[in-house]
Amino acid sequence: MVVLVTGSSGQLGQSLQFIAPNYPQIDFVFCDSKTLDITNLENCNQVFDQYKPNFCINAAAYTAVDKAESEFEKAFAINVTGVKNLAQVSKKHDTILLHISTDFVFDGSKTKPYIETDIPNPTGVYGQTKLDGEKVIQQIWEKHFIIRTSWVYSQFGNNFMKTMLRLASERDTISVVNDQIGTPTNAVDLAEILVKIILTDNRQPTTDNFGIYNFSHEGQCSWYDFAKKIFEINNISINLLPIPTTSFPTPAKRPAYSVLDKSKIKSIFGLEINNWEESLKTI
Ligand SMILES: NC(=O)c1ccc[n+]([C@@H]2O[C@H](COP(=O)([O-])OP(=O)(O)OC[C@H]3O[C@@H](n4cnc5c(N)ncnc54)[C@H](OP(=O)(O)O)[C@@H]3O)[C@@H](O)[C@H]2O)c1
Repeated sequence: MVVLVTGSSGQLGQSLQFIAPNYPQIDFVFCDSKTLDITNLENCNQVFDQYKPNFCINAAAYTAVDKAESEFEKAFAINVTGVKNLAQVSKKHDTILLHISTDFVFDGSKTKPYIETDIPNPTGVYGQTKLDGEKVIQQIWEKHFIIRTSWVYSQFGNNFMKTMLRLASERDTISVVNDQIGTPTNAVDLAEILVKIILTDNRQPTTDNFGIYNFSHEGQCSWYDFAKKIFEINNISINLLPIPTTSFPTPAKRPAYSVLDKSKIKSIFGLEINNWEESLKTI
């Protein structure tokens, strides 16, 4: 079984590379943005022709949430045109496409966890391009799994956890917003879930499981709670101050609440998901 991974040098891409040796039955092909530029249809066709993947995990994305506000064209090229190219070549090769989307497709006005059928309403360019990417897949190629996730962190790449650890080495006091509520997701756990979906799907000649799924850990917290736990686990003593979002203005507006309901993925794939705090301790 051949599984092609795009964006292999990102956090999720590196997490997939990290777990790949545990799955000798899968022939992983890891492509970074130089080997496979998803915005280039010819490049996509050439790589799919060469490897003929059974599954493609799209870990490539434009993820700079604030920068996206002033780089719409770049964000659109990667998160919409690039995803459209992958959907088209996946259809041509009968490749099942696993694509990652985000809690930022929602506006955060709910007060209980978002389910897959809730109506998206992104508040910024990044969320809008990610939603448009979901839609192009749905229009082009039915054999897809779209996994919406949130607050991704890992030992790889850039993320909130690494920013907090860096800031703690530079400052005595750190202020973090405490009025945005969501759930962290360990990228390695997300990588494991993607492989589980592939292995489950591969056992079934036909499946009606395609569609959108939520995945994050269990529980919820604010960014302040997340930071507090990061410092606690790493035995870092620091003056951590909770602040409101209004005291930390950013170019992109973020959802105030984006906890995802995981009932669907748990029941269809028979998963047990651990709490975000337990998963953080494994890093
Ligand atoms: N990070 C989060 O908190 C978060 C939250 C919710 C959902 N997600 C979603 O989760 C997925 C994985 O995110 P991540 O945190 O792993 O992202 P990441 O670390 O920013 O990695 C994205 C990767 O995409 C690659 N890329 C960019 N343009 C490309 C192109 N044209 N062709 C091929 N590759 C390209 C980048 O390569 P270069 O570095 O070489 O440009 C980078 O390696 C994304 O779909 C993201 O939207 C992330």
